[in-house]
Amino acid sequence: MDTEKRQGRDEARRTESGIEVKPVYGPQDFDSSDYGEKLGDPGEYPYTRGVYPSMYRGRPWTMRQYAGFGTAKETNKRFKYLTEQGQTGLSVAFDLPTQMGRDSDHPLALGEVGKVGVAIDSLLDMRELFDGIPLKDVSTSMTINATASTLLLLYGLVAEEQGAEARSVTGTTQNDILKEYLARGTYIYPPEPSMRITTDMFAYCAREFPRWNTISISGYHIREAGSTAVQELAFTLSNAIAYVVAATRAGLEVEEFAPRLSFFFNAHNDLFQEVAKYRAARRMWARIMKERFGATDEKSLKLRFHTQTAGSSLTAQQAENNIVRTTVQALSAILGGTQSLHTNAFDEALALPTEKSARIALRTQQILASEGGLTDTSDPLAGSFYVESLTDAVEEEAWGYIKQIDEMGGSVKAIEERYMQREIEEAAYRYQREVEKEERVIVGVNRYETDDDPEMDLHTADETIQEQQTERLRELKETRDSSAVESALADLKGAAEGTDNLLYPMKEALASLATLGEVSDTLREVYGQYRP
Ligand code: 3HC
Repeated sequence: MDTEKRQGRDEARRTESGIEVKPVYGPQDFDSSDYGEKLGDPGEYPYTRGVYPSMYRGRPWTMRQYAGFGTAKETNKRFKYLTEQGQTGLSVAFDLPTQMGRDSDHPLALGEVGKVGVAIDSLLDMRELFDGIPLKDVSTSMTINATASTLLLLYGLVAEEQGAEARSVTGTTQNDILKEYLARGTYIYPPEPSMRITTDMFAYCAREFPRWNTISISGYHIREAGSTAVQELAFTLSNAIAYVVAATRAGLEVEEFAPRLSFFFNAHNDLFQEVAKYRAARRMWARIMKERFGATDEKSLKLRFHTQTAGSSLTAQQAENNIVRTTVQALSAILGGTQSLHTNAFDEALALPTEKSARIALRTQQILASEGGLTDTSDPLAGSFYVESLTDAVEEEAWGYIKQIDEMGGSVKAIEERYMQREIEEAAYRYQREVEKEERVIVGVNRYETDDDPEMDLHTADETIQEQQTERLRELKETRDSSAVESALADLKGAAEGTDNLLYPMKEALASLATLGEVSDTLREVYGQYRP
């Protein structure tokens, strides 16, 4: 190879995350000697190549579109539409009052009821949300954190009313409160009581909902807040370690809860780096669970994850270009072995998806699965000099962060000291500066711009939702057995002040038609409201 050409190849390249990628030209530059144990086969420790032997040949990834807005009735309609269009898993978006433990008639709910998700105040709303949807036959993800225990119990009550066996019901509660302090912000209580509620959920599900994925430890929002791919991976795994430590300290056996831990990552730009991130994640988690926590059950060692394409990469300008961005990002998640996938709609930089844009987002996955040949094999990029060296580079840098966080005393301490927040803020600043200096091209925004953006039909919010929900709450409080509610809430308060599992009295309160806000306020009385 002539010198000039080789020189061009000699330069080490940096990925979007700033990872230096040593150029590899072929076998002599690539120490494949120990790749046996570093890779394994799909479904084999350390699961670099995937968590199941057959992967998508056995079962394609779940097409699970995040949806929710307005009333339970409206969202129920969208769920049924997406299912008719072929999605294979449900994913509920809740409005902010529901996420923050406020009923729709609370002053702090003003202007937010039904906006970024569905409004759920009580068992009555939850029944409507899943009306006509057999919960014994679907898996449902619920993006809920501070009030995850409440929504899980409401879901279980509806499943019971439908005659579904709690032991067969499956789904996921995000329930990842640490990343809320770190990046997303929908926390209520201080970290310590929040972790207690989380571990109570682990214990409750181990006994009552054995097929429920109790937590979806999320890197998605960390990346959306501006982190690099390596920080997304490292901070997520550090948070996961904190949950395992908290659960074992609460007396739970690792094998009792670890098989039902799940993860949630972002699929951002730079396809190969994202594939490397997912492959490194599986290998790292397998080692952490085996070497640090002594887990032996292979289900405890497998990192199963959901992916959402990067909302922060969507542009308002030339919005149809987002269909291409989402396709490339979805491809990275599939090549990286995701178990479940949400593809963003092209208009989401402007509004919630319309039916049409939600359908195109789902069709993107269906085309990749049915026409792209992407379900025919597992980990097709394995053995690629570039992808394997990138996987090693991502893993090496991520261990560096995990070691640093360990030395600080773990994620809770690192978050309290704002270490991770600072790292994310600095990475976000670097990224934005590169965009503004046009060192990082965003097509249609800082290059190939145009001003002929077409008019688009956008989703519009129903401004009468708060009024409707307030009326429903008034009627509920007039007709329910208030003494039963009071007695159940008193039992919940007693459990919160003691050490009994909170979810048993909480379930009784919700079954007596206590509202989500009343349950949350009962815990606020005991734990207070976190003010960082
Ligand atoms: N061979 C053998 N078995 C297989 C298989 C194969 N090839 N593929 C799948 N299976 C089995 C699995 O073992 C599983 O069986 P089990 O339930 O008995 O264990 C079943 O088939 C279902 O497969 P998965 O569990 O792999 O797939 P799911 O889709 O059911 O679960 C998950 C995936 C990641 C484990 C789960 O936690 C999940 O669905 N997570 C979704 C989280 C989510 O949607 N989050 C959205 C958040 S939106 C948000 O936060 C963004 C907003 O804030 C902006």
